[in-house]
Amino acid sequence: MKENKYDIYLKQIESIIDKNLPLVSNLANVASILNEMENINWCGFYLAKEDYLYLGPFQGDVACTTIKIGHGVCGTSFHNKETIIVPNVNEFKGHIACSSLSKSEIVVPIIKNNEVKGVIDIDSPIYDRFHNEEKEYLEQVSLLLSKLDY
Ligand code: SME
Repeated sequence: MKENKYDIYLKQIESIIDKNLPLVSNLANVASILNEMENINWCGFYLAKEDYLYLGPFQGDVACTTIKIGHGVCGTSFHNKETIIVPNVNEFKGHIACSSLSKSEIVVPIIKNNEVKGVIDIDSPIYDRFHNEEKEYLEQVSLLLSKLDY
């Protein structure tokens, strides 16, 4: 069977991750590969520290630096330990608008030993951009990232 683009990105991510490097170096390169996705305007990481998520490596415009756990799409995904797909950000109560360009969003938690360490956040300038295919891809990315030290 023909490999799809997400299988190829996953292999790239698997080969680029190096446990001996600092976390930020790995996440920075993974953000670059995530940015290969079509029709997105922002992709990156928020990492947990105490009651907040803080901006990590990303690709895109300047973004909010601090999100309280339980707030916004990122804080809700973190709190619920599950992926959230938002087809229309205007319809998500409490959505934090970092960029007026973003119309839809997917957030995937990074879970290590049952503890959430942060989230992967991807924004799109079109509505209803993210579906099961993207969820599966990003959950695989999250699994690879869960092997790193936080
Ligand atoms: N929209 C997000 C905030 C992060 S930015 O999209 C980069 C949220 O509601 O959690």
